[in-house]
Amino acid sequence: MTSNPNKDVVWHQYRISKTQRSEQKRQQPCILWFTGLSGSGKSTLANAVEQRLFELNHHTYLLDGDNVRHGLNKDLGFSDGDRQENIRRIGELSALFVDSGLLVLAAFISPFRTERRMVRELVKPGEFIEVHVATPLSACEQRDPKGLYKKARAGEIRNFTGIDSDYEVPQAPEIAIDTSSQSLEASVQQIIDYLKAHNILKET
Ligand code: ADX
Repeated sequence: MTSNPNKDVVWHQYRISKTQRSEQKRQQPCILWFTGLSGSGKSTLANAVEQRLFELNHHTYLLDGDNVRHGLNKDLGFSDGDRQENIRRIGELSALFVDSGLLVLAAFISPFRTERRMVRELVKPGEFIEVHVATPLSACEQRDPKGLYKKARAGEIRNFTGIDSDYEVPQAPEIAIDTSSQSLEASVQQIIDYLKAHNILKET
């Protein structure tokens, strides 16, 4: 057995470049990476932002923990190692979508700094926009939309983020939003304003 099973695989150059694909879509591709506790509002916010971007005629794709874990990552659970592999695969997928010229919205707890940094480093500077959905644990637990905090407190679910599994708070996210103190509309606007200020969306 060789140490690198892919040592004889050579990178193939495509005829159509990322720039051409992006120019055809008239947009600047990027990853909006929503990180935060379960119940913090990541999916709701990502959905609403995607809707706004779609209305502005942008080409987008939304990746979400709950959905991706039904398909691509259905073999993964919630141990630290499985969460790392979850984010590694999503990171690679997001980078491919950026190469295809899309605005990618990724909503995952993604509790560890190392994996979030790894995704950041897969794309060019400025293409990874970390959105910390910084809703406090107490508010997430009170919402408990899927009843999972209750189960975790009762010991029926193990390794639940914020209860018996770590969440490493982002130290310098591009955007931070607490959905318990700010409306959905204002939060969407905050993100749209950031994208305009950084020339990802053009001022109209
Ligand atoms: S991550 O930690 O690997 O980034 P991911 O975002 O894919 O997590 O999935 C989180 C979703 O899985 C939560 O919103 C919740 O609905 C569900 N879930 C089930 N078990 C757990 C658990 N032990 N910890 C956190 N979320 C869990």
